[in-house]
Amino acid sequence: MDRRSFTQGLSALALVSSASLSSSALQTAAGAAAAPAAADDTRAARQIAHTTINTPLRLGLIGAGSRGQELVRSFLRVPGVRITATADVYPPRFEQLDKVCGYQVARHADYRALLDRKDLDVIVIATPLGLHAEHVLAALKSGRPVYGEKTMAYTIAQAREIVAAVAASKQVFQVGHQYRYSPWIRAALARVQAGEIGDVTHVLAYWNRNNSWRRPVPDPSLERLINWRLYHKWSLGLIAELGSHHMDIANWTMGSYPVAVQASGSICYYRDGRETDDNVQVILSYPGGRRMVFTSMTDNAKQGDQLWLYGTKGSLNLTLQDATFFYEPRKVTAVKEEKGDKKQEPVVTSASYSPANEMPYRGPGKSVEVKDPEDPTTAATRAFVYCVRTGERPIADEHVGLGSALAVVSANEARVAKREVEISAV
Ligand SMILES: NC(=O)c1ccc[n+]([C@@H]2O[C@H](COP(=O)([O-])OP(=O)(O)OC[C@H]3O[C@@H](n4cnc5c(N)ncnc54)[C@H](O)[C@@H]3O)[C@@H](O)[C@H]2O)c1
Repeated sequence: MDRRSFTQGLSALALVSSASLSSSALQTAAGAAAAPAAADDTRAARQIAHTTINTPLRLGLIGAGSRGQELVRSFLRVPGVRITATADVYPPRFEQLDKVCGYQVARHADYRALLDRKDLDVIVIATPLGLHAEHVLAALKSGRPVYGEKTMAYTIAQAREIVAAVAASKQVFQVGHQYRYSPWIRAALARVQAGEIGDVTHVLAYWNRNNSWRRPVPDPSLERLINWRLYHKWSLGLIAELGSHHMDIANWTMGSYPVAVQASGSICYYRDGRETDDNVQVILSYPGGRRMVFTSMTDNAKQGDQLWLYGTKGSLNLTLQDATFFYEPRKVTAVKEEKGDKKQEPVVTSASYSPANEMPYRGPGKSVEVKDPEDPTTAATRAFVYCVRTGERPIADEHVGLGSALAVVSANEARVAKREVEISAV
């Protein structure tokens, strides 16, 4: 890891540890960095613990599909929360949501009717990506706090519009990057920040599956509504749907937004009329020449979903359930005398090349132990409610959302244009 960038990120965020949403210093500082800091960790712990207040909170949900229902399951674990109303354009969702809640939730076919209600305290949005900005901006305009799913927006202009709208509204906004609330990822990255694996120069992330991503459709007229992930109008494909989580963790690790990106992809197996690629490869560049590589394929799940942080003194593996450090011994072949001191030289490929020297490190890893490895979405939703009740700025705020949107949207642009795309943070 580039410790300097990390430290710069830390001091920027230290400025904002306990500020309220109305502070303009906070808007600037939070935008300047995406790294964890000691103060940031304290704030995260306070938000996730959420032990103090249980005042009633009436929630309105726009988009009651698979993720909307999952979010509701999590929100209902927070004392005081009630799901009051929902808006969806696909009627079967209403009954599904009632089953999750155990009571009937008021139904709207048009999200604007939901936002017109006077009995809602917060709005949660889990609609397809192409609709995020329209729904988030309207919800903020209605004067309520908003939890909006990732990727924050379909275009960079929309993402910036959301950042400005949050500032203007002074409302709490949290983006669905729930891994910022993952106990094992937070614990592991705090150790990385303390220098445990040296300077992290590379992040390598896989999200591989062996299924088509296609959902069954009861009627062909519903194909694009139900399988929206496969069509450009609503989706930025695997880069957004899976890569956004990894790119967010890379931004967090690097303490910076990326500065450039290269990307490619193709349809190599599922030739079923889809528009979005069934495999993608992305290379993000960060300040100091550091790199993040994201690859996703959908016809082989061997690597699953995992992320590696490679540092000069070791490596960290992150999965959806755990974190493991590895410390391979440094490979040395030569000992050189230098002014009387013996200095070890690293291995060089030469005539004495030996396959054994080039083998992957297969030594045991050391797991990161956490007291309560709870589901990150449960922690994230509880933390959001804490922020709504206290006015505190969420950890996964609109600047975090902007960071992954910059990476995702620019990667998609690079994929289409078949060239490197520069990313400007402003
Ligand atoms: N944070 C995470 O880990 C995570 C996981 C899964 C999905 N997501 C995100 O959640 C969002 C939704 O994904 P999903 O899997 O639930 O999709 P989904 O298709 O299951 O649900 C989307 C819902 O939105 C509804 N909808 C579509 N147009 C609408 C409109 N104009 N007004 C109101 N409702 C409308 C659909 O009918 C559907 O019920 C996506 O942005 C996705 O990336 C995030």
